[in-house]
Amino acid sequence: MTEYRWIQTEVHDRVGLARLNNPKALNALHPELMQELVEALEAWDRDEAIGAMVITGNEKVFAAGADIRSMAQASAVDMLLSAYIDLFDRIGRLHKPVIAAVSGWALGGGFELAMACDMIVASETAVFGQPEINLGIIPGAGGTQRLTRTVGKYLAMEIILNDRRLTAEEAARFGLVNRVVPVDRYLEEALELAQKIAQRAPIAVRLGKEAVQFALESSLENGLRHERRLFYLLFATEDQKEGMQAFLEKRKPSWQGR
Ligand code: CAA
Repeated sequence: MTEYRWIQTEVHDRVGLARLNNPKALNALHPELMQELVEALEAWDRDEAIGAMVITGNEKVFAAGADIRSMAQASAVDMLLSAYIDLFDRIGRLHKPVIAAVSGWALGGGFELAMACDMIVASETAVFGQPEINLGIIPGAGGTQRLTRTVGKYLAMEIILNDRRLTAEEAARFGLVNRVVPVDRYLEEALELAQKIAQRAPIAVRLGKEAVQFALESSLENGLRHERRLFYLLFATEDQKEGMQAFLEKRKPSWQGR
């Protein structure tokens, strides 16, 4: 397995787990850390032995945002030429499901990283926010777009313009997290969820993810048309034949990912 400096990676039963590992700066997301994270996730995305991925921090902090130290003196052109923000887009383009397991602070780029994932499992201590306004900037890695699509305009305005923070319970109420669990359970819970998904028919999982993502980007009419094509495509897979045959024979299906 590749050795990384700023993340730690493990594989648990078809699930790739990446732990952010910049504890001295509360897991601030500098470009090198993001580069390693994306490389690890993309490698798992290509690996048929992996069915889903989990990103986590530690109990105290998921990530306190982009590394303010490395941005403080940057010019607009430095930011434009840096690959940093594009790395968030690459997480959004992964084919396999990614779950963020969040405990403690998920601020700025940390919240944006969690929102770039497909599901969020939060510990009771999780706090979500976009404090960029305090630095004289706005979120730049998807925060204004992904947050608004999930919580709506009015709450998004308050979070982005006035640094309103959300507790885990509030985030659950506003549809931002899948579930809230005690702090000693959040990672286990996220891994169990990922492992269950990783046992399912891989191509159906991949196209299901694509269809849901498409819903956020398209009109209903285009979305329905896209869904229909993906649905028909699944009838070209061996797993569709196996899944339906197994149902009729009252046995468990054996998925091939073909
Ligand atoms: N970047 C760099 N260093 C950071 C950091 C960040 N985002 N967040 C925390 N740190 C560092 C602190 O400078 C401090 O380092 P030193 O010990 O060397 O002084 C260390 O981590 C511990 O931090 P605090 O002493 O501040 O810890 P705290 O428990 O008192 O407060 C906190 C925790 C509320 C998370 C506070 O650290 C904080 O507000 N951090 C900044 C959050 C923020 O503004 N994030 C947005 C960044 S911009 C962004 O993300 C842009 C984008 O979307 C692309």
